Amino acid sequence: MRVLILGGDGYLGWPTAMHLSARGHEVAVADSYLRRSLCRENDCDPLFPVPNLHERMRLWKQHSGRRIDVTVGDLTDWAVMAALVQRLKPEAIIHYAEQPAAPYSMLDRKAAALTLHNNLGVTFNLIQAVRAFVPDAHIVKLGTMGEYGTPNIDIEEGWIDVEHKGRRQKFLYPRQAGSLYHTTKIMDTDLLWFYVRVWKLRVTDLMQGPVYGLTTAESETRDDTSLLSFLNYDEMFGTVLNRFIVQAVAGYPLTVYGKGNQIRGYLNIRDTLICLRLAVEKPAAPGELRILNQFTEVFSVNQLAQRVHDVGRKLGLDVTIKSVANPRIEAEEHYYNPAHHGLLEMGLTPTYLTDDLLADMIERVIPHRDNIVAERFLRRITWA
Ligand SMILES: NC(=O)c1ccc[n+]([C@@H]2O[C@H](COP(=O)([O-])OP(=O)(O)OC[C@H]3O[C@@H](n4cnc5c(N)ncnc54)[C@H](O)[C@@H]3O)[C@@H](O)[C@H]2O)c1
Repeated sequence: MRVLILGGDGYLGWPTAMHLSARGHEVAVADSYLRRSLCRENDCDPLFPVPNLHERMRLWKQHSGRRIDVTVGDLTDWAVMAALVQRLKPEAIIHYAEQPAAPYSMLDRKAAALTLHNNLGVTFNLIQAVRAFVPDAHIVKLGTMGEYGTPNIDIEEGWIDVEHKGRRQKFLYPRQAGSLYHTTKIMDTDLLWFYVRVWKLRVTDLMQGPVYGLTTAESETRDDTSLLSFLNYDEMFGTVLNRFIVQAVAGYPLTVYGKGNQIRGYLNIRDTLICLRLAVEKPAAPGELRILNQFTEVFSVNQLAQRVHDVGRKLGLDVTIKSVANPRIEAEEHYYNPAHHGLLEMGLTPTYLTDDLLADMIERVIPHRDNIVAERFLRRITWA
């Protein structure tokens, strides 16, 4: 299939591009380097540098013999989006191209405005471009489990049947996000759902949990880091388990926010790629908004910290755990029971977080220990 990946330079975007290319899909990527420039502006450089998209494309071609089409441009600019979709005529479009950090979205007015305009702007332009140039194309959009929040009832897979005064109707499951970033994801879902109803678009919205991991089958084809995704370990852009791994290697306490009983659904980056491939290869029907909850295991922050502590100690690292004042406004103890059947039924075989896998992540970070800047771990970006 012809697959266009918006946000193809990102933590998930580049590994997805190689994964789909390796399986014979004709892949194109587009990115504005927003993530790189926000990291640079905010002193959040990743653990090791990675090549730019054109260089990545050349390395991948050398290795696989397969070409990935590269466009560098801002997809909130209609001219960029329109030209891209018109030229490539993709059959599937994966939309990763958003500002994905909750703490960044809560930093100040400017960061909040950027997050709002950027995320909704790309989603809106994509919808318009699909309608104008490839109305049968399948949009695969990355949402987040954070859209649901932590309600005191079971979380369903996107939809809920409501019975009210003797009548029934299926609705989008209620959403109540914990940051402005997550709120933009809810707004994206609402936009998509509206245009699915009126224009019969084909859409899959993947409610993904926090992703962890460094290597994928395709990046392991080289001994160096040149095909790896970047790894952020800072408070702003680093997801929790990736941050704990780097803290363990640095000999810095694993920083648990508040009581640490915040529970979320997590998945390995390798499983993200498989979920995306399954969604692309089994498209939603015209007029369908298919919502899939994309995670494989549920952990509290305390459980993750304890696992990294235990494995790190076995490897001879001086790992400690420290509770710090929670910068976020969130429930630190809550009910959490989210459904996640759809992707398993479509063929996902989960990669579980074993001790061996944690040890492997730690061992791959150790050679980069000298790059770690400890001040990046705790920036105290507060929600209040
Ligand atoms: N990583 C996770 O744990 C996680 C969890 C749940 C959901 N998600 C979602 O998955 C998607 C990808 O996440 P990620 O971790 O790879 O983030 P990322 O920041 O690494 O990737 C997003 C990419 O999109 C690009 N981008 C952003 N705005 C753009 C624009 N206007 N024009 C062109 N390119 C633009 C960025 O430069 C970046 O390379 C995001 O939508 C995110 O919200 C990620």
